[in-house]
Amino acid sequence: MLNKEVAKLLNEQINKELYSAYLYLDMANYYADQSLNGFENWFFVQMQEERDHALLFRQYLLNNGESVKLTQIAEPDKTYNNFREPLAYALEHEQFVTASINNIYDVAYKNKDFRTMQFLDWFIKEQGEEEKNSDENIKKYDLFAGDPKGLYMLDNELKARVYAAPSLVL
Ligand code: FEO
Repeated sequence: MLNKEVAKLLNEQINKELYSAYLYLDMANYYADQSLNGFENWFFVQMQEERDHALLFRQYLLNNGESVKLTQIAEPDKTYNNFREPLAYALEHEQFVTASINNIYDVAYKNKDFRTMQFLDWFIKEQGEEEKNSDENIKKYDLFAGDPKGLYMLDNELKARVYAAPSLVL
């Protein structure tokens, strides 16, 4: 059994990861509407990664004898006025998720829950990568997407992203 507060936060993180998946699917839909299929692909792969994150939190809770409580996933309600806005919002969202995971780590640390701290180590590293990737997308957009040819080439680059299952296995 886990500490009650840690278990509650891990349960809530499932919802946050599923919301992330929903948000990124919404962004993929936005780019699909604009015929930017590389951007669409990048966010579709991101959606798959977020779903995997949610399932890892679920499995960790089950492995530790905890029940999993699923709650309502909020509607992604952002509207985007240009191709850059989803990229900026994705970085902001990842920073929010990082803060959430850091908070669980902090509560686990205070409760000497070393097992959960070790589980979360993978996510701490993953969040570093996710923030870096989101930041790089913004930088590349600002550098290269100023004209249609540059946008076309960046879209082609983002088309190459492929889904890989998470390296963490529970
Ligand atoms: Fe699962 Fe992008 O945080």
